[in-house]
Amino acid sequence: MYLDQAASSFPKPPEVVEAMTKALTEYAANPGRSGHRMAVKANEVISQAREQLADFFGFAYPDRVCFTSNATSALNQGIKGFRFQSGDHVLTTSYEHNSVRRPLENMKEKSGIEITYFDSGVTEDFDMDAFEKEVTPQTKMIVVSHGSNLTGKITPIKEIGKLAKERGITFLVDAAQTAGVLPISMENMNIDLLAFPGHKGLLGPQGTGVLIVGKGVDLEPLQQGGTGSQSESIQQPEVYPEYLESGTLNTPGIAGLLAGLETVKRLSLEAIHRHEQLLISKLIDGLRSIDYVTIYGPSSNRLGVVPFTIEGIDGQEIAIILDQHYDIAVRAGLHCTPIGHESIGTSECGAVRISVGPYNTEEEIEQVLTALQEIVEGYFG
Ligand SMILES: Cc1ncc(COP(=O)(O)O)c(C=O)c1O
Repeated sequence: MYLDQAASSFPKPPEVVEAMTKALTEYAANPGRSGHRMAVKANEVISQAREQLADFFGFAYPDRVCFTSNATSALNQGIKGFRFQSGDHVLTTSYEHNSVRRPLENMKEKSGIEITYFDSGVTEDFDMDAFEKEVTPQTKMIVVSHGSNLTGKITPIKEIGKLAKERGITFLVDAAQTAGVLPISMENMNIDLLAFPGHKGLLGPQGTGVLIVGKGVDLEPLQQGGTGSQSESIQQPEVYPEYLESGTLNTPGIAGLLAGLETVKRLSLEAIHRHEQLLISKLIDGLRSIDYVTIYGPSSNRLGVVPFTIEGIDGQEIAIILDQHYDIAVRAGLHCTPIGHESIGTSECGAVRISVGPYNTEEEIEQVLTALQEIVEGYFG
């Protein structure tokens, strides 16, 4: 039983497996390089993926949909590729993943930027007034995760986008936990840079990620190399998407991502989110009735992610027992979000995280609850 969907979704829809097999067996030539039919076919599928992704995320320019290998590489490109100057300020939150925090800290060290980690709290509320007070005349970028991979808290990105636009600040959204779960429109939400993985909510394979770069954003590519275009020039072509896409693209992966996106559209975001809400409310209700359990995160309006601790039992041990004795996969530890754990008071011991996806069932939730009840009884009698 797989309840670690926030790390990577599983199982992948059969359509994804079929699309990837078809790419690998029929046309995985080098897209955008040669003129033969296989390369043309590969390029067509990749262009289709750009078009569908742009449309899905409310963005009018498919050529600015840039493929990366995961959300981390998209976030690195968005943060380290931004032309910061010493003294520039970035406003972010204390629930960011290390894939935001570490590139920011790296820019602090190398380029002398200032960073504010706004503590947005553990409840469903987000204090926009307090957040706005952290904006300074030097604030050049706001970067937030749309949904926390630790608490499942949802960030009000529409309101933050409005603020960013009014103040002329570049707005980068880490949609790692929400792409394929919640509706996102770059245009309506004033998002300048949108980073997300293909392998989580979009149900695509690992090795896929995307950075969508808004029209007015000026980034410096983190890599230079072959693009299949303007080969005579020693400079990187300043044309999107090649500008940020040096080297051979992951054609089978992108074909799988396209099939994953089509599956999400067929299931519908609303139905996926509703199903996940149903599963976690059942999970939270059940966890509440088990002795020694503490649950963290908002009491409503949250993603399909639930962290908890059991007093007196190490989280890693719980995860190992669930895996080895009950065949249930969950994740324990700090979830690459150490400041988030500081905020909820679990830095010392970490927490166990259960996360659900569209293919998990109510029966599975009942089984994990029974397993946890047995573990607690085994420890405390
Ligand atoms: C909020 C958040 N941001 C970024 C990432 C990084 O995603 P990837 O593993 O695709 O690089 C994750 C992964 O768990 C995440 O949860």
